[in-house]
Amino acid sequence: MDKIKPSDKLGALPPYLFARINAIKEEALAKKLDVIDLGMGNPDLPTPPHIVERLIDTVKNHTRTHRYPQAKGMPRFRRAVAAWMKNRFGVALDPDSQIITLIGSKEGIAHLCMAYLNPGDTVLVCNPSYPVHFNGVILAGGVVHSVPLLEQNKFIPDLASIPEEAARKAKILFLNYPNNPTAAVVEDRKFLEDAVNFCKKHEILLVYDNAYSELTFDGYVAPSIFEIPGAMDIALEFHSFSKTFNMAGWRIGWACGAQKLLAPLEKFKSFLDYGSPTFVQLAASAALEGSQDCVKEQSLVYQRRRDMMVEGLNKLGWKADKPKGSMYLWLKIPEKVKMDSMTFAERLLKETGVCITPGIGFGSYGEGYVRMSLVTHDNRFHDVLLRLKKFLNENSGK
Ligand SMILES: Cc1ncc(COP(=O)(O)O)c(C=O)c1O
Repeated sequence: MDKIKPSDKLGALPPYLFARINAIKEEALAKKLDVIDLGMGNPDLPTPPHIVERLIDTVKNHTRTHRYPQAKGMPRFRRAVAAWMKNRFGVALDPDSQIITLIGSKEGIAHLCMAYLNPGDTVLVCNPSYPVHFNGVILAGGVVHSVPLLEQNKFIPDLASIPEEAARKAKILFLNYPNNPTAAVVEDRKFLEDAVNFCKKHEILLVYDNAYSELTFDGYVAPSIFEIPGAMDIALEFHSFSKTFNMAGWRIGWACGAQKLLAPLEKFKSFLDYGSPTFVQLAASAALEGSQDCVKEQSLVYQRRRDMMVEGLNKLGWKADKPKGSMYLWLKIPEKVKMDSMTFAERLLKETGVCITPGIGFGSYGEGYVRMSLVTHDNRFHDVLLRLKKFLNENSGK
């Protein structure tokens, strides 16, 4: 049966990090350990009630929504996105030709790679990054050229350091701010202007993953790439309902940008899927059209958790800064703890029940770091700090 085996592309993927951590978590749960899960960026807060009500009413009373949806998104949904983008960023988009719905932005990003890449095509991917940015490239047969995100550069890539040869060959550049996993934000828009000019100069599609645009703190407001002059000529932007409205399980997002850049993704998807269910699209439209107070309140919850954890970690002697966006803390493993990130995460989970993500899972430049997602009830963070204190005391200098 040697012929029946998975493709080389599947074999080329690195081990899926969350699956490995999940397996260890299952073991810990089986041993009846009290697991506190700060691993995956899976929001613990519920979807706001007015969105849930809208879904229930639609599914119950509008049975036409049980039929196949319109793959690129129903006009009502695309109009709601256009109005939200205008209101939030001042960006004007044509709902008919410049917006498509996605079954979550993860799906859209992976399929964008397949729509654009030929085997061997180069893609500039930040390292560390959200795994789909590199796995999507590998699955499409492309070649990842890593662009390091370094702490001394506030986790903003140095585009000038990309070798001319790689820039010339590259077809796509992924950027994602507020960033997963480093929690960095773009404070100086000059970087985005440089990125647009760099992509224009080298004819590279700039893919701006804006999944965390609404999760920001201390008054920081995240931009859309389309606020940057000229971006419409060269960029696509991806948005998600997962974090903005706590709809991670609903599977809906959108991609937007110039029709000529968006059309290949729309075409590819039309051969593959039917888009998000119509009742989900209608509930998501209600999310965009309704009051945005729930989004602001949710950011305050994450900000409070961030403060609790960062202040607590600093008291333990684990130096941490307060990020201005995302739902993560990106923490350098203290020098006195002589462990790589996978060992640190595995042992922490096995010995204390606290589940976090090893930095190596986001790329080689993530080694030496761990990521904590702020996705548990406020009163659990005290327990996390107590367990970390014990773990660090027991493992320092070993
Ligand atoms: C940077 C980034 N982009 C995209 C996604 C995927 O979002 P969605 O749930 O819309 O597929 C995530 C999820 O964690 C993410 O961190």
